[in-house]
Amino acid sequence: MKVKFELNGKAVEADVPARTHLADCIRHHHMQTGTHVGCEHGVCGACTVIVDGAAVRSCLMFAAQADGRSITTVEGLAPDQDHLHPLQESMRDCHGLQCGYCTPGILMTMKAFLDETPAPDEAQIREALSGNLCRCTGYQHIVEAMQLAAERLRGSST
Ligand code: FES
Ligand code: FES
Repeated sequence: MKVKFELNGKAVEADVPARTHLADCIRHHHMQTGTHVGCEHGVCGACTVIVDGAAVRSCLMFAAQADGRSITTVEGLAPDQDHLHPLQESMRDCHGLQCGYCTPGILMTMKAFLDETPAPDEAQIREALSGNLCRCTGYQHIVEAMQLAAERLRGSST
């Protein structure tokens, strides 16, 4: 099937078997390998990308369903090659990652969440994170990173 969509602001197309899920299309056809694949059945959240503003598990979506849509992956998060997004800076500053396998999915989940909920409390952050499995960190530093990122995105912290 021929599929056309926008990937991190650029128009792309691919000719893929109908059964190809979006994660494989992004990784194998567009070589954007920041999106990770863990469980491949919707449990771990590692494959989360943003589709038309909503966080979506790209292992549960066919590439064909992306036709005509706008997709943002972790590669599209930073404003340019010399600067990180506040979410990425905050994860670095709070030590919110260890192996980093879960990190792209967490960043994209939290990007969509903070766009809708710019001033979350800790319980809301933990609930938003509950669909993303991290086996390294114990989550505390990720929660702290998200609190800091929310502050930075609101412009109330340096
Ligand atoms: S790889 Fe998609 S949810 Fe785990
Ligand atoms: S940092 Fe290793 S799985 Fe989250």
